[in-house]
Amino acid sequence: MTSYLNADIMIRDALPEDMAPIGILMSTYFLDIEGVPVEDFAVAQAGEKIVGAGAIVSGRFPEVHSIAVHPNYRGKGIGSSLIRYLLLKVSDRSDADICVYTRTTSPVFFEKVGFVEMDPAIKAQLWEDCAGCNRLSTCRQSVMCLKKGSR
Ligand SMILES: CC(C)(COP(=O)(O)OP(=O)(O)OC[C@H]1O[C@@H](n2cnc3c(N)ncnc32)[C@H](O)[C@@H]1OP(=O)(O)O)[C@@H](O)C(=O)NCCC(=O)NCCS
Repeated sequence: MTSYLNADIMIRDALPEDMAPIGILMSTYFLDIEGVPVEDFAVAQAGEKIVGAGAIVSGRFPEVHSIAVHPNYRGKGIGSSLIRYLLLKVSDRSDADICVYTRTTSPVFFEKVGFVEMDPAIKAQLWEDCAGCNRLSTCRQSVMCLKKGSR
């Protein structure tokens, strides 16, 4: 699958050779992608350069695991295009009421692409690592959900 944001920016599935530049981009923002397989990633490419990347993982529910755009390319619609592309990757899931979730420190960005903020108490119900985390009560990550009908 490939799509174009414009003549300069291509959005496509990630390839194994993209994992090194994706890792560098994510580490710019201290985003941990350890254990996330290449199949779950999409990238934004400008010329030969990876300028954005995101992953949607599909476990008990789909989750936008991480998303990042190179600082020089932010504010050009790349992040929202990546989200739309990632959502297509899970669009064949049939569960009627399924939400796509994310845990994020950028809730406003996710609101702009249709996600709504949930009660943070849901974190411990949805994620085992949150349930077992001793910083849960002070955690600043918002839980956002995109309902199927709003995609
Ligand atoms: C969040 C991020 C991926 C957005 O990428 P982007 O390409 O700049 O986003 P877009 O250009 O598609 O922006 C879409 C809208 O969201 C807004 N927006 C983007 N990033 C935002 C942020 N961090 N906070 C608030 N609003 C934001 C934009 O202003 C734009 O609004 P508009 O439609 O009213 O003009 C990018 O800012 C980034 O890499 N941030 C650092 C990593 C991060 O925080 N990732 C998310 C946590 S996992």
